[in-house]
Amino acid sequence: MSAAPSRTAIVTGGARGIGAGIVARLARNGMSVAAIDLDVDALTDSLERLRAGGAKAIALKADVTDECAARNAVSEVAQRLGPPVILVNNAGVARDVDLEIMAIEDWDAVHRVHLRGAFLMTQAAIPFMRAEKWGRIIQISSISAQGHAGRANYCAAKSGMHGFVKSLAIELGMHGITANAVAPGLIVTRMTDATAARRGLSLHEHLADATLRIPVRRPGKPEDVAALVAFLAGEESGFVSGQVIYVAGGPHD
Ligand SMILES: NC(=O)c1ccc[n+]([C@@H]2O[C@H](COP(=O)([O-])OP(=O)(O)OC[C@H]3O[C@@H](n4cnc5c(N)ncnc54)[C@H](O)[C@@H]3O)[C@@H](O)[C@H]2O)c1
Repeated sequence: MSAAPSRTAIVTGGARGIGAGIVARLARNGMSVAAIDLDVDALTDSLERLRAGGAKAIALKADVTDECAARNAVSEVAQRLGPPVILVNNAGVARDVDLEIMAIEDWDAVHRVHLRGAFLMTQAAIPFMRAEKWGRIIQISSISAQGHAGRANYCAAKSGMHGFVKSLAIELGMHGITANAVAPGLIVTRMTDATAARRGLSLHEHLADATLRIPVRRPGKPEDVAALVAFLAGEESGFVSGQVIYVAGGPHD
């Protein structure tokens, strides 16, 4: 059996949380990986550990909502690591507030990162995938796409991602490119701290309460999401496209 080719992956928001978990997993699977983030300092130590283990991994500072910065970052990855044929649009922000008092800045900030950022990064990466006749586009969505009080901006952006990947799957399938969304439930990261604070609970209280509603009775870890992303980014997932797959410890539609 021939070895799988070594591919280059970009993970946006790869400096911490779920993104950092995906960077580590793809690097351990033998891919060359670039983390693109507003703040790459958080990643320095883990990148050094990955490189010490033989991985090819770099971090680039860029704002995915900035058209020039997004295109330049993708070009730089291509020059330094080879054609980026795997793109994980993971960068995200939350601005949770009830709709009646939501400022337009809260609406726009969330849509800019999740949708404009994904659009810009995907458009910049597609030519490399087309040239290689192979590509994997993976959006990190959320169970919140199904609706959540106080998160109309975030929920609308995440469900927008579902239409985005389904359209890409249809548009790009003939070129060997798949597009899927991975929708996590509760994953313990910095974003969880913000949710606990919004509920007026300590992190411990928030997790204990939320875990009661998760069928497997535990919160998720970045590694849980990274495992599914690794499959979708790999050679064997070529017949899975246009799907929304939940990583939530229980069923979601
Ligand atoms: N934590 C959860 O429970 C959970 C659940 C479902 C979905 N998600 C989604 O998973 C993704 C990662 O979330 P997380 O919990 O790891 O969050 P996090 O806040 O720990 O990490 C998000 C990363 O995105 C980066 N980022 C934000 N805006 C950016 C921009 N404009 N350009 C480049 N980088 C930017 C941040 O600097 C940060 O490093 C997000 O899309 C989030 O919506 C998280």
